[in-house]
Amino acid sequence: MFKIAASILNADFSRLGEEVKAAEKAGVEMIHVDVMDGCFVPNISLGVPVVESLRKVTKLPLDVHLMILDPARYLKQFSDAGADYITIHAEASAKLEEDLKAIKMLGKKAGVSINPKTPLSKIIGVLDKTDLILVMGVEPGFGGQKFNEEVLAKISELRKTIDKQNLKAEIEVDGGVNAKTAKSIADAGADILVIGSAIYRHPSGVKHAVEELRKSI
Ligand code: DX5
Ligand code: ZN
Repeated sequence: MFKIAASILNADFSRLGEEVKAAEKAGVEMIHVDVMDGCFVPNISLGVPVVESLRKVTKLPLDVHLMILDPARYLKQFSDAGADYITIHAEASAKLEEDLKAIKMLGKKAGVSINPKTPLSKIIGVLDKTDLILVMGVEPGFGGQKFNEEVLAKISELRKTIDKQNLKAEIEVDGGVNAKTAKSIADAGADILVIGSAIYRHPSGVKHAVEELRKSI
């Protein structure tokens, strides 16, 4: 059974607490928080204080996706703010293994993410050091983009590798996941689907959006 992580990037930030509660009520399993630094990606989103505030309004796991250069600088702050999962980008860290270990030392679940063009070979050496592998379906930076179908082969390959090596890491897919694309992504082997605009920009609201997504798979 796959899990849904609601990405708040496209939620109404003026009512963020209510938006998170709506997703929780609709039955999503995680809240995905996109942190962008304007350097690793061409956009700036939110930071530590927002994670701190979100921690007070939900008991769901906070899945913090750091799209920032040299993430080691901020791991402790996001950990203290209440993140449950901290995911860093393989392209943004010069000492990936060390940074993943640092996340584990903070008592958090450690995730590693790769962009659509980054091959699996970049993370193959750290798979056993992670709890989560976040495969991007779009170039990171913005919600509402189209899923890159070429990524499906990478998800299947990763699924096979994880199963073969009997690893415990979960596969999460982020970007362009909606009621049309979710089934092929889940079939390729994803455990967790990150869904932003298809939940928060759905014309019939969050509850209906989550129902539609579950039915689509
Ligand atoms: C993109 C972010 C995603 C984004 C997904 O850089 O990492 O989490 O919010 O949004 P949708 O679901 O609209 O593609
Ligand atoms: Zn994300």
